[in-house]
Amino acid sequence: VAIVMDGNGRWAERRGRPRTTGHVAGARTAKAVVAAARKAGVRTLTLYAFSSDNWRRPPREVGSLLRLLRRTLLAETARCIANGIRLTVVGRRDRLPEALRMAIEGAEAATAGGTALHLRVAIDYSARDAILRAAARLADADGPVADRWTRDRFAAALSAVDHDPVAPVPVDLLIRTGGEHRLSDFLLWECAYAELLFVPTPWPDFDGAAFEGALAEFACRQRRFGGVTVAARA
Ligand code: IPE
Ligand code: IPE
Ligand code: MG
Repeated sequence: VAIVMDGNGRWAERRGRPRTTGHVAGARTAKAVVAAARKAGVRTLTLYAFSSDNWRRPPREVGSLLRLLRRTLLAETARCIANGIRLTVVGRRDRLPEALRMAIEGAEAATAGGTALHLRVAIDYSARDAILRAAARLADADGPVADRWTRDRFAAALSAVDHDPVAPVPVDLLIRTGGEHRLSDFLLWECAYAELLFVPTPWPDFDGAAFEGALAEFACRQRRFGGVTVAARA
């Protein structure tokens, strides 16, 4: 499952509060949804926390977002360990503040033994940039072209360029809160056959029950992957 956690700013603005309070409320939702995902037996949960295009926001909002991410990583590491959750961060690291980079490395090392849920947090993430860097990596690799440019090799390169320790699994369900119907450069390769679920609820108002509702909706979808349904084949 992958989630575009959108609608924090508008949630706060509607209350006449600074956008930052929406991000703080959104961090609370993320905790609740991680717990719900673990309980539901989700194997991999990827949360879009900061896109490479989010650098275009006012410096004050960017600064407070990055500090909130650091604080949340530091505060949640113990809970992740206690619940068998492996936390990793995908995206570029070279543009992040040193303190955040340290928090990321600390959380990844401390939770590396978790097997109940793989929680991936996307920070300074751009799917298009990842695809380009993965392609450059394969172009530089040794060996016959036909062996190099396979889906598996490409997927492995994709995880390598974004520091993910495991090859990306295809996304089965992509949820976007906040009412917009777009991907905003998130997991473009991994979402090739993802079921898309767009909900109007702003992220701070989303919760564990809403996440379970999304899984129930997913269970009703009929997936064909280009083929035909079992009934039609008979
Ligand atoms: C999502 O909420 C959080 C991030 C992008 C970091 P937004 O901040 O985009 O909230 P809206 O879309 O402006 O309401
Ligand atoms: C996508 O939301 C990024 C995150 C949720 C982190 P945005 O709010 O940045 O996306 P756009 O600008 O509406 O497409
Ligand atoms: Mg937004």
